[in-house]
Amino acid sequence: MTAAMARVLPRELAGRDPLVRPSEHADFQSNAAMALAGPAGLASRELAERLRQLLAEETAFTVSVAGPGFLNLTVPDALLWGQVEQRLADPRLGAGLPLAGSRVVVDYSGPNIAKEMHVGHLRSNVIGDALARSLSFLGADVIRQNHLGDWGTQFGMLIQYLTEHPEHPWRDGAAGTRISLLDALYKTSRQAFEADPEFAERSRRRVVALQGGDPATVAVWQELVEVSGEAFQQLYDRLGLLITPQDTDSESSYNEELPGLAEELIEAGIAVESAGALCVFFEDILGPEGAPVPLIVRKQDGGFGYQASDLATLRHRVRDLGADRILYVVDARQALHFKMVFAAARRAGWLPAGVEAKHVPFGTVMGPGGKPFKTRSGGTVRLAGLLDSAVDGVRAVMAEKSHELSGAELERVAEAAGIGAVKYADLSTSWARNYVFDIDQMVSLNGDTGVYLLYAHARVRSILAKAGEASVVVDRSLPLHPAERALVLLLDGFEGTVREVARELEPHRLCGYLFALAKAFTEFYGACPVLKAPTPGLRGNRLALCELTAATLARGLDLLGLEAPERI
Ligand code: ARG
Repeated sequence: MTAAMARVLPRELAGRDPLVRPSEHADFQSNAAMALAGPAGLASRELAERLRQLLAEETAFTVSVAGPGFLNLTVPDALLWGQVEQRLADPRLGAGLPLAGSRVVVDYSGPNIAKEMHVGHLRSNVIGDALARSLSFLGADVIRQNHLGDWGTQFGMLIQYLTEHPEHPWRDGAAGTRISLLDALYKTSRQAFEADPEFAERSRRRVVALQGGDPATVAVWQELVEVSGEAFQQLYDRLGLLITPQDTDSESSYNEELPGLAEELIEAGIAVESAGALCVFFEDILGPEGAPVPLIVRKQDGGFGYQASDLATLRHRVRDLGADRILYVVDARQALHFKMVFAAARRAGWLPAGVEAKHVPFGTVMGPGGKPFKTRSGGTVRLAGLLDSAVDGVRAVMAEKSHELSGAELERVAEAAGIGAVKYADLSTSWARNYVFDIDQMVSLNGDTGVYLLYAHARVRSILAKAGEASVVVDRSLPLHPAERALVLLLDGFEGTVREVARELEPHRLCGYLFALAKAFTEFYGACPVLKAPTPGLRGNRLALCELTAATLARGLDLLGLEAPERI
């Protein structure tokens, strides 16, 4: 519809957005005449009338002008049925590839090694993956980057502790168990570091040994990297993320280039010594007390940290990976960090004007009652444990419903729905906001939940299975029932919604769309009998609507990273 309108715009308005939106007064309404008339030196009512005539000549739409120049557009039934037919024949459901030719780096997940992923890691994983999927669906060449925290002085402490306690069982068992043991050990070794100055000194020497490439020290570090990588990958697979070991982009891999990077910044006059550290200052970046906050390239002790390696990382993404757009799906609390990294990289010429670097800052997952999310004993909540509880929640909901699933299929479906429930609850809240992790609510069958959508999808599939048709035939000559029309128009909005997600980087828009689609389907199904349709022609058309709805729900859920089982 937008394309048709764009075609008939007069020459002086060519290329402008014709502002077509779904409407209550007709199928669509365009505000183009009011928005564009002024600049073109026309009266809006006059422009509207001209557009109406052009549309009447060139298209099959019914067009009327209302008020000061609103264009009300109604699509003939045959055209809408034709579109249903075309979309059904296209696995991409009529969506184009508007982002073809662009290269987008999506930086997400980025856990720290030797620690178990906890609730704080949920959002980056889930939002980052949904963005990677949506951008790539629209044709972008997406490069996922998992910026592993595998470098830093804390490893001196941990490796020293492990070396002094060879009896510790961290080398036994599966990766999941080993990472839990290491996570606990992290705290123990930190306590030892704080309580025992001699241990602290030995740990500092261990950091030097690690940085200097001492073989025994590096071997333990390597082992930490491997166990962590294995445990992370297990969780990625369970979460159904696209991340693979090939997407790893570790902090340590930038280590060697950091001294050179610091030199470049000094030579360019961008970094200066201040109180023994090498810093980049910004006029517009001030701390809470109004004092300038610098980006620290090199610390007082001569070491390089997170900020320096993120600068090198950004340079690599532009220079070597050829990114046009770089998205950092990272906790909102790192906003200042990214602001400084981007600004410093712009000054250094590593982030040219044509390349966009953007922090997608998400809020916090809160515990019951909106309090910080902690275990009963006050510890951090393991991500794996949260997923287990969501799967249990789905099992409980399913136990109360009648269904035909059993054995392995039941287990598979509960797992998919439990994981899906958690992901959807996260994605459907705008990322800027905090939200409360409430399992009962997220596995509920009522309301805007992942489980509701998975049921909706499975229900449409079961209607199709009952019908048993091998293929559906659409009769374009049949009139559309209002509920059918509402559903068709919503189905038409799929591509536009995914484009919005990619433009605004907001997966919650797709959640809202799919929820509206599921509701429109319910209304259609209540108003228009499908299996008992009065004529074979109507039955065929309605089955086509069922099929397109199922395909659109499944595709949309897939872009969110939810697996939609055929039966629930
Ligand atoms: N490891 C970091 C953390 O746990 C997240 C990394 C995000 N990505 C980045 N390029 N800084 O906070």
